[in-house]
Amino acid sequence: MPCRTTDELNELVQEAKKYTDGGKVADYIPALAKANPEELSVAIFHDDGTCVSAGDIHQKLTLQSVSKVLTLALALIDYGEEAVFDKVGYEPTGDPFNSIVKLEFSPSKPLNPMINAGALAVTHMIKGKDADERFERILSFIQELAGNSSIGYSDEVAVSEYETSDLNRALCYFLKQHGVIDEDVEELLEVYTKQCAIEMDCLDLARIGCVFAMDGLEPVTNRRLIPAHVARLCKTFMVTCGMYNASGEFAVRVGIPAKSGVSGGIMGSVPNRFGIGILGPALDEKGNSIGGIKLLESMSAKYKMSMF
Ligand code: DON
Repeated sequence: MPCRTTDELNELVQEAKKYTDGGKVADYIPALAKANPEELSVAIFHDDGTCVSAGDIHQKLTLQSVSKVLTLALALIDYGEEAVFDKVGYEPTGDPFNSIVKLEFSPSKPLNPMINAGALAVTHMIKGKDADERFERILSFIQELAGNSSIGYSDEVAVSEYETSDLNRALCYFLKQHGVIDEDVEELLEVYTKQCAIEMDCLDLARIGCVFAMDGLEPVTNRRLIPAHVARLCKTFMVTCGMYNASGEFAVRVGIPAKSGVSGGIMGSVPNRFGIGILGPALDEKGNSIGGIKLLESMSAKYKMSMF
C-alpha cells in the first residue's frame, strides 16, 4: 500500500531538519561516511496497514544498532529468558555504546543487550551450524517482521565495519576470556557486522516497529510473529537503553520505546498505536540521529505519543 504524506508531518520534518547542521555522519565505519547529513525522512505504520510519511522514505539505511533489538528477540525465541540473561544483564550503563569499562567490574557479563558488548553476546547465541546459517536466520526473521522478502544487506558496509572493528574485536576477546562467549571471534564478528549491515527503508523499519507496538502481531493479518512476552521485554530495553546514554532524556522528552543506530536510523514503537521508522544520518555526540530525535520530540507533543 502506498504511503500518503501530510502537510503537518512535512512541516515537522522541515522544522527538525534545521537541527541537522549541528550533527555529523558516523565515520568510524568508513562506508557510513558517504551518507547525506541533510537527509531526514519518516514513515508511520499502523496495524491496519495504512501509512503516513514525509521525506524520501525509499532511501536505504543499514540497521546498525537497531538490529540489536531484533537479534535479542530471536535469541529469546531460540533459548528463553533464563539462558539469555545468564549471558547479559538488564541494566542501563550510562556509558557510550562501545565502552569496555564496565566489563572490568564483576560479574564481567555485559550490563545489557543494547550496548555493543551485550549485542555481541546475544549474536553469539543465535543458532546455526556456521556463520552463513546464523546470518541467514537473522535475515529471514527480519524479512518476516518487515513483511518484505527482498530485504538484504550491504556487503560494502559489512566489510567496511569488519575491517575496522578493532574495538568490537577487543570486546569479543574480553568476553571470551571471561567465559561469556566461547566461539571463534572472527566468525562472531562476521555475523555481527552483516547483521548491522542489513539494509531497508524507513517504511520497512516502521512496519517492524509496528509489530513490537502490537505486542508481536503482524499488521493487517494479526498473525503472531513474536511471543507477546518477548515483544514486551524488547520494548522495555528500548525504553531503558535504546538511545544509549541519552535514554533518560529521551524518555522524558519523547516517552516511547525506540532504538537508534549510527547510520541515523531510529525505530519507534508507540504501544498499541503504530510503528515509526526514521532516517537522519547527522548524529549527535552520543551516536543518535539529531534530526530524528528533534522530529520525535515534536511528533510526541503533537500526537500525544508519550507513554508516561
Ligand atoms: O558495532 C558498531 O559499532 C556498529 N555496527 C553499530 C553501533 C551503533 O549503531 C550504535 N548506535 N547508535
